[in-house]
Amino acid sequence: MLILGIESSCDDAAAAVLETHTAGQATVRSSVVANQDQIHKRFGGVVPELASRCHVRTILPVLEDALELAGCKLGQIDAIAATRGPGLVGSLLVGLMCAKGLAQTLGLPFVGVNHIEGHLLAPLLEHRVEMPFIALVVSGGHTALFLVEDFGRYQRLGGTRDDAAGEAFDKVAKLMGLGYPGGRIIDEMARQGDRRRFKLPRARVRNARFDLSFSGIKTAVALTLRSGASDAGAAPHDLAASFQEAVVDMLLTPTLAAAREHNVGTIALTGGVAANSRLRQRLSAEAETAGFSVVAPSLKYCTDNAAMIAMAASYRLLRGERDPFDLDAQASLAL
Ligand code: KG4
Ligand code: ZN
Repeated sequence: MLILGIESSCDDAAAAVLETHTAGQATVRSSVVANQDQIHKRFGGVVPELASRCHVRTILPVLEDALELAGCKLGQIDAIAATRGPGLVGSLLVGLMCAKGLAQTLGLPFVGVNHIEGHLLAPLLEHRVEMPFIALVVSGGHTALFLVEDFGRYQRLGGTRDDAAGEAFDKVAKLMGLGYPGGRIIDEMARQGDRRRFKLPRARVRNARFDLSFSGIKTAVALTLRSGASDAGAAPHDLAASFQEAVVDMLLTPTLAAAREHNVGTIALTGGVAANSRLRQRLSAEAETAGFSVVAPSLKYCTDNAAMIAMAASYRLLRGERDPFDLDAQASLAL
């Protein structure tokens, strides 16, 4: 079965062609992403209205590119899937309407996908992962821990009470005057910094072992900057390294605890922040010591993409399920 996947939940317009035979086993024939960082850069964050307008311009060329790279024509596609939430409603509508319009015109099955389910199943695009597994989804919009029991069976164990981890990286980079998106910049600066130089808090949420909070650390960085302590010499690098280390600590503690408690063999790391080199390095080392294997998709499948959306639709389509054409976009769709 050839599935055309479409993703437009935030600031990336993406399309992909996935060839699938059985649930969870698939080949990515193409995956194209049009990134909008240049548009949002000067605002230091995504501007929803600009994001959706840009999607209107780019979604069809992205789709055409995905088909061309996959070496197939629209007539060879067997089903169409698109993200229906959560995300920015204006952005979601562009991809969803495009998918529904195409499916209806071509008489193809259509499935609407939860974006988070896409991230949870992204590791399956390149690896065989035995279920159940623990998945840490860390991006600019989401930070949560899930127990993936089976296709369609996900238990949210906990997550952030305030900012997402990527949002914290971006806000701290903005405070430090480093540019947008800040995660990659902080990651690079931290390589030359002393991660023990600044003592930053590792927040814990009382009576919720798997929950997280990043607002305190953001304030702590702001106070450090205000105190003038980070002005001298290598201090910005040290501050980047100290901040990153604290975020990694906060992410790893509940992840390893969840893996132990649920007795799984594998921990999957996914979402844009999964690109973080220190997070990857420490999770691999600490999980291995604790007896878990770690699966992290290539960076192109960690960040928002449409191949993961097609993957999340594939098991439902293979079962013969389809969604009605009046399925709506939902900004805060729960999993
Ligand atoms: O998954 P994604 O592409 O989009 C969302 O759904 O949010 O994630 C983007 C987020 C941004 O906040 C960005 O700063 C962060 O991922 N990010 C990183 C790194 N690369 C991207 N954060 C930390 N270290 C990185 N290397
Ligand atoms: Zn995402």
